[in-house]
Amino acid sequence: MLRVSLHRLSLSALCSYPPRSLSPRHQTFSFPQLRTRAIPLSTMRDFSTSSDLTTKLLFRQLFEKDSSTYTYLLADVGHPDKPALLIDPVDKTVDRDISLVKDLGLRLIYAINTHVHADHITGTGLLKTKVPGVKSVISKASNSKADMHIEAGDKIYFGDLFLEVRATPGHTQGCVTYVTGDGPDQPTPRMAFTGDTLLIRGCGRTDFQGGSSHQLYHSVHSQARRWDDENGIFTLPKDTYIYPAHDYKGFTVSTVGEEIQYNPRLTKGEETFKSIMENLNLPYPKMIDVAVPANLVCGLQDDSAESVAATSK
Ligand SMILES: [Fe+2]
Repeated sequence: MLRVSLHRLSLSALCSYPPRSLSPRHQTFSFPQLRTRAIPLSTMRDFSTSSDLTTKLLFRQLFEKDSSTYTYLLADVGHPDKPALLIDPVDKTVDRDISLVKDLGLRLIYAINTHVHADHITGTGLLKTKVPGVKSVISKASNSKADMHIEAGDKIYFGDLFLEVRATPGHTQGCVTYVTGDGPDQPTPRMAFTGDTLLIRGCGRTDFQGGSSHQLYHSVHSQARRWDDENGIFTLPKDTYIYPAHDYKGFTVSTVGEEIQYNPRLTKGEETFKSIMENLNLPYPKMIDVAVPANLVCGLQDDSAESVAATSK
């Protein structure tokens, strides 16, 4: 288990607080803990300061219109530090996101990507320059620069809540899905942040960045223990919410059960799916030559943080 040992060494140096391991073979990123209990989603999704609940997930879905990207803000507002994370922040909307974090009295600790995006520049690098202490996170398989590199089975703690990492390659080789924790103190139903692997009634293209229709199909469907011991997205409970990285039709959320029934591509057999993906006839991604090189280095490339920050406004 050389992989795990090296991984722990690098994380120990980077974390503000010592990591807590729940399992000998999985890495856990931790934050100071309190005892908690589960609460209904209807309560979790509303920001409130009521004091009768010791655990509360604050959840916000944010939108960047030029690339139709969703950024997700999650925080444990039942924890005294109100630790928060952002999934898939965009450079153009970093100031909006920071302003919201401040308004809500949160402490941003992680800026996380589901994959190396080809259609926009990530906001993780800018967030690091503007919010002291924020750590950038992306999969090891993405071969990108970040403070923390995660793999399937890792857990990312923010307060008493955590995200589990599932490797879901296919759109890119390094795609992962982040799923809220499975446990008595974690949100129910669960929430899956699928990046571009599974979109609402669709999926990400598989013709660039090490993409593979075969891999994407199995990342969504697999019942077997593949992709580093993690099961496919469709093996999650049917009431699990699906929150994708993009939507181009105005949808905001779906569920596993809904996509199992209605996804026009992924309800098909693998061979039909591959044929669909091979015949999409999509244009060359217009941002890919700018976005991918930048996103491989946290979105900041060779520019100084200040010059990139200025162009993002
Ligand atoms: Fe993508």
